[in-house]
Amino acid sequence: MSLQGKAAIITGGGRGIGFESARLLAEQGVNIVVVDPGGARDGSPEDSSPADDAVKVLESMGVKALAVKESVADFDTAGEIVRLCVDQFGSCDILINSAGLLRERMVWNMSEAEWSGVVNVHLNGTFNMSRHAAGYMREQKFGRIITMGSDAWRGTIGQANYGAAKGGIYSLTRALARELGKYGVTANTICPTAATRLTLDQRVKDGFRKRLEAGLITEARYNEVVNMPQPEYIAPLVAYLVSEDAANVNGQCFRAEGTRVSVMAEPYEKAAIFKANGSEKFSHDELADLIPRILLADYTNPAPAAEDA
Ligand SMILES: NC(=O)c1ccc[n+]([C@@H]2O[C@H](COP(=O)([O-])OP(=O)(O)OC[C@H]3O[C@@H](n4cnc5c(N)ncnc54)[C@H](O)[C@@H]3O)[C@@H](O)[C@H]2O)c1
Repeated sequence: MSLQGKAAIITGGGRGIGFESARLLAEQGVNIVVVDPGGARDGSPEDSSPADDAVKVLESMGVKALAVKESVADFDTAGEIVRLCVDQFGSCDILINSAGLLRERMVWNMSEAEWSGVVNVHLNGTFNMSRHAAGYMREQKFGRIITMGSDAWRGTIGQANYGAAKGGIYSLTRALARELGKYGVTANTICPTAATRLTLDQRVKDGFRKRLEAGLITEARYNEVVNMPQPEYIAPLVAYLVSEDAANVNGQCFRAEGTRVSVMAEPYEKAAIFKANGSEKFSHDELADLIPRILLADYTNPAPAAEDA
């Protein structure tokens, strides 16, 4: 089925992965609300918004497009954005949550504002938009929700706020999939890797150059980072997941980087210990023996205590 005439909301659609997804959907005749207040990489305000520029490009491709320069972090605003999409384009069929910012800090130095600023845009913003879109999608018995995760959800250094928000987004997406699936609405997460100002601004490049010069990373790793594939490589996966062809793909987490796409395994319980009689509690000594020997038999501590810390 063609996406011609469908209506999409793309948060963070002014730049990076959101913008490249918007361009590919516009090629397929999708009308698009671009939600992007602009702002620096850490969310601090800037004079201009990339949403206007994105809308000009989309309109020049022959589709209808609207710029909304508001933040997804506000619950009521998210509701107004979804209503605007329905009022102007007649429906709300596709929601791509691609808004993002970063405020890196080791956890012992992280301020409450650094924590909540990131969680508000990523996790709360994804909830706010999905929550309001879900009502329309459920009623019309069609909808596609894409959320942006990140490898950071698996554990990161200096990005506890971002990693926690992305883990929350993955869990939220799995819940959306299960609640909305029977109404013809799917929700899937993409963990992308792409050269955008979020991942590869000059500060990041300088940091990797310093690490290379200090012998902390190899030349191969340095080249891999600075030659990261462009965000337009993520857009085809987005366009596939919102299409009719992906009607049965729901609650999944994909990784995408350049010409490679993979899917994460379902989280599962990999080993268990239990007391045969079903009522006696484990003793401390039993746990100290069984957990390392049985449950963690093939495990490596990701950050063991170091003498030079
Ligand atoms: N680029 C990567 O390698 C990578 C890796 C993992 C995850 N991601 C995720 O992909 C998504 C897109 O990131 P990107 O790399 O394209 O970055 P980007 O900075 O190019 O685009 C993000 C856009 O979100 C907008 N934005 C920021 N705060 C907003 C808010 N409150 N409301 C609406 N829009 C807001 C920004 O103005 C920006 O235009 C993000 O969720 C990011 O965390 C990207």
